[in-house]
Amino acid sequence: MSKLNERKVAVVGCGFVGSASAFALMESGLFSEMVLIDVNKDKAEGEALDISHGLPFAKPMTIYAGDYKDAEDAAVVVVTAGAGQKPGETRLDLVKKNVAIFNSIIPEITKYNKEGILLIVANPVDILTSVAAKLSGFPENRVFGSGTVLDTARFKYLLGEHLDVDSRSVHAFIIGEHGDSEIAAWSSANVSGIPINDFCEMRGHFEHEKSMKRIADDVKNSAYEIIEKKGATYYGIAMSVRRICEAIIRDEKSILPISSIQHDTESGIDGVALSMPAIVGRNGVEGLVPIRLDDEEKVALQASANTLKEVLSEVL
Ligand SMILES: NC(=O)c1ccc[n+]([C@@H]2O[C@H](COP(=O)([O-])OP(=O)(O)OC[C@H]3O[C@@H](n4cnc5c(N)ncnc54)[C@H](O)[C@@H]3O)[C@@H](O)[C@H]2O)c1
Repeated sequence: MSKLNERKVAVVGCGFVGSASAFALMESGLFSEMVLIDVNKDKAEGEALDISHGLPFAKPMTIYAGDYKDAEDAAVVVVTAGAGQKPGETRLDLVKKNVAIFNSIIPEITKYNKEGILLIVANPVDILTSVAAKLSGFPENRVFGSGTVLDTARFKYLLGEHLDVDSRSVHAFIIGEHGDSEIAAWSSANVSGIPINDFCEMRGHFEHEKSMKRIADDVKNSAYEIIEKKGATYYGIAMSVRRICEAIIRDEKSILPISSIQHDTESGIDGVALSMPAIVGRNGVEGLVPIRLDDEEKVALQASANTLKEVLSEVL
């Protein structure tokens, strides 16, 4: 019998991203217990108290600051611990600092929790997902990263604004690295089944090349712009964490571009974590969805995988 509590989540790292995610998870009503863990115990305790004070306006649950032992029965462990991106710093610049942090925390988590899902959020998320998979020894379906779920949300938001249509009716993915080499998968993008360029023309937009470049660049540069202006990004990722947990806990089998270890021997994208649309449910990653890519997108995906492989070879 599983020792897991299906209604329990642990959040490791209670900085901007961890605390905003914890707040979003509290509001979601998905869990009845949440433990917050941080090397800075006061910070975890302060966040647990502050978030708990919203409970009379939400649904009952227990929220507390704890230790790794308290995460032993969590169905999902969300890992946000790590240094944040500094202005001008790329996500890959962060790699060495955060791999060192993972070397200390992943074994602590897995010492107690053997059956839960590890949801990696700290950056560079694709590299850290590979690192967490190796350190944990968990089956690959139970270790994955938030990947380009956030980038895809930004993409849908910007397309929704551009076309003056509900962003939830936009079906489009950012794939590959969560970072500079990510790819906007334009060839499969559509609005309620209507190919994206046809829909653009329906809405009076005809300069496709120019708009596609602007929107893809804006998605890619969103984090840099937000960090420049307010020091960190956290609300968008908090909603992404909430959405991924919802797909897991409710066993939704939703298709989300999470980052998982790829095994495409045909393309050679093998043994590296990056984002492709995947079916996400109670067993974690239940399968990949091979969306159609044109030749240019395939080349770009290969380049993105190579970028990640190079970094990975330096840390694994
Ligand atoms: N995946 C995404 O889409 C996405 C989006 C935004 C930010 N991030 C990443 O999330 C991470 C956290 O960002 P942030 O803005 O919350 O940073 P932050 O500095 O505000 O918070 C990091 C927290 O981790 C804690 N911590 C550090 N070392 C630890 C350890 N060994 N054990 C336990 N806790 C430890 C710190 O005490 C701090 O509270 C960064 O790597 C950032 O780049 C990812």
